[in-house]
Amino acid sequence: MRALVTGGAGFIGSHIVAKLLAEGHRVAVVDDLSTGKRENVPAGAQFYRMSLLDPELPDVVQQIEPDVVFHQAAQVKVSYSLADPVQDARINIEGSLRLLEACRKAGLPKVVYASSAAVYGEPQTVPLPEDHPLAPLSPYGLSKLTVERYLAIYHSLYGLRYAVLRYANVYGPRQDSSGEGGVVAIFADRAVRGKPLVIYGDGSQTRDFVYVEDVATANLLAANPDLPGELVVNIGTGREISVNELARAVAAQAGHELPFVYEAPRAGEIRRSSLANGRAISVLGWYPATDLAEGLGKTLAWYRAHALPGIPEK
Ligand SMILES: NC(=O)c1ccc[n+]([C@@H]2O[C@H](COP(=O)([O-])OP(=O)(O)OC[C@H]3O[C@@H](n4cnc5c(N)ncnc54)[C@H](O)[C@@H]3O)[C@@H](O)[C@H]2O)c1
Repeated sequence: MRALVTGGAGFIGSHIVAKLLAEGHRVAVVDDLSTGKRENVPAGAQFYRMSLLDPELPDVVQQIEPDVVFHQAAQVKVSYSLADPVQDARINIEGSLRLLEACRKAGLPKVVYASSAAVYGEPQTVPLPEDHPLAPLSPYGLSKLTVERYLAIYHSLYGLRYAVLRYANVYGPRQDSSGEGGVVAIFADRAVRGKPLVIYGDGSQTRDFVYVEDVATANLLAANPDLPGELVVNIGTGREISVNELARAVAAQAGHELPFVYEAPRAGEIRRSSLANGRAISVLGWYPATDLAEGLGKTLAWYRAHALPGIPEK
């Protein structure tokens, strides 16, 4: 098939591109490199350095003629969405809407959309099923939910086929470890530099950590044209891992002593989170194949290889 991956120079998108190419598909990437890196895009993919907001986007989509669009490009920081909700909405809502319009004009390729556990807000049950109430706590979460709703409208108005994948906490090689990067990326980066792991609060808060290559696999499975035309699926392990457990698992992979430092809890953080994955298993035939120890092993190996001398410490 012909695939377009928006955000294909980013963390998750670049793994989707690699998997598509490995399976023999033709791949084009649209990415403005705002957080992504050109070197993340595997050779063999056609690259367009372009924003979703670029007026030429429809022409490019028409030129690519994709059968499926994996829409990963987004402003991904919750803190940024609080600081600048207008710009967050421009990229995540307006940018996505422009992409949907481009898809409509290009003959309605299937869209596989990167949504997030952030659409649920504070969990009432753990692990969270897809029919849990949707009450996002941030403009970022609301932007993700808004695009889900646009997809449903494009399906009912124009017959656009789509799959929404609500990711848990994705981790693995190439994740940004600066600023608000995922906790695994931050721990892994510090671990390979022999720096203490900083834990906010008492470390009993839980998250659901899913390995990036498993997320890429879920995307490819979701592109199957035989699936229902409208699909919303959680992509997580269904397991809660506390930050303390994660720190111990990272330390075990590091191969050297690593102190933990406890700091004041962060305001507004949810206590527990994990996504039920029964629907992913039954409808997509997906299963999180990589367990935490294996995924952390691969992740630390990558950070070790990339912690080159001269890179400033964080
Ligand atoms: N990482 C996670 O744990 C996680 C969890 C839930 C959902 N998601 C979603 O998965 C997707 C990928 O996230 P990621 O972690 O790989 O982040 P990332 O920042 O590595 O990737 C996002 C990519 O989109 C590009 N981009 C941003 N704005 C753009 C624009 N206006 N036009 C074109 N390209 C643009 C960036 O340059 C980057 O390459 C996002 O939609 C994110 O909301 C990620």
